[in-house]
Amino acid sequence: MASALFSPIKFRGLELANRIVVSPMCQYNSEDGSANDWHLMHLGQFSLGAAALVMTEMTNVSPEGRITHKCAGMYSDANEAALKRVVDFCRKYGVAKLGVQLAHAGRKGSTQPPAAGGQPLKPEEGAYETIAPSALPYAPGWHTPRAMTKADIERIVDAFAESTKRVLRIGYDLVELHGGHGYLFHQFLSPLSNRRTDEYGGSLENRMRFPLQTFAAMRAAWPAERPMGVRISATDWVEGGWNIEESVVFSRELKKLGCDYVDCSSGALDPRQQLPLAPGYQVPFAERIRKEAGIPTIAVGLITSPRQCEEIVSSGKADMVCLARGAMWNPRFAWHAAEELGAEAPYAPKYMACHPKLRPQIFPNRKVG
Ligand SMILES: Cc1cc2nc3c(=O)[nH]c(=O)nc-3n(C[C@H](O)[C@H](O)[C@H](O)COP(=O)(O)O)c2cc1C
Repeated sequence: MASALFSPIKFRGLELANRIVVSPMCQYNSEDGSANDWHLMHLGQFSLGAAALVMTEMTNVSPEGRITHKCAGMYSDANEAALKRVVDFCRKYGVAKLGVQLAHAGRKGSTQPPAAGGQPLKPEEGAYETIAPSALPYAPGWHTPRAMTKADIERIVDAFAESTKRVLRIGYDLVELHGGHGYLFHQFLSPLSNRRTDEYGGSLENRMRFPLQTFAAMRAAWPAERPMGVRISATDWVEGGWNIEESVVFSRELKKLGCDYVDCSSGALDPRQQLPLAPGYQVPFAERIRKEAGIPTIAVGLITSPRQCEEIVSSGKADMVCLARGAMWNPRFAWHAAEELGAEAPYAPKYMACHPKLRPQIFPNRKVG
């Protein structure tokens, strides 16, 4: 039977050759938000054919929206030019379609990169002011954010629209809003971090208002023929927090605004979370949102084997699968999965020589080199 994982899928004008996505992965390697040679390596390797779609890391719409001083940004002409160089490089040699995730870290900003400890920055390390729905730190000892005013909310909505125009000029095929992992939009969605008493806090409708306004502003800045998605944390894994029922409602609202898929992650809002880590542990969220909100979903998290991917897609639990660490471990994942499942995946022409079906033909006749 034909592989579901290797069947094409279309979102608006974008046709993807298979259902495998390389997940966005922060590299903590930018200078004032700008990409560099490392990103040629990081994204270039995946663009050769690891997946139909390769996502660029969480790219922040303002300097204070970065998690660390080394995070990616899309707030200056220099940021735009630097990432365009990387995207042009991936297009020149690679075959994958390219997406980018736009974000704001909110109260989780102003920290050291994980490799340096991941702790809040001290003043002598260049600590900067963080903003959030309410003046509540992520954890004891973390920066207390400044509660956002309505002017801040308008400024951030505009910043997302401006960054969307920048990534359009760069030439991305798809843009994603980061609505999960305890960053700014998730902070608004969750009643644990949003204690506002104005129209942006309290009821579910109010907590969704800022994320939805931002998505709408991005959609208005992004062409109708190009797809847009949102990554969410489907639950906080904390009693009294954001949950899957609210995620279904949020996904329905996103769909009405022209969202093409919801990428279903979870957690990272509150250190009290209890994660039931196991292979595919977040897949049930993708399945439920797909069925109950009627929107395509991407499943992510501890998805590592071709047959696991095939099962998720063929059984209708999600439309696509997204790999982060699995893709780093094996940047040729899609090629190997295609072999195992008797299917085909796109190859960068310069690497076609390694295709198992062509190897016996080419080398005996010395037709290469
Ligand atoms: C090094 C690293 C960086 C990450 N950066 C991001 C990011 O920029 N945006 C995001 O939504 N998730 C990020 N994540 C989470 C992954 O995209 C993914 O959701 C998570 O690692 C689970 O998938 P996996 O089990 O395939 O690694 C990151 C994960 C890793 C390991």
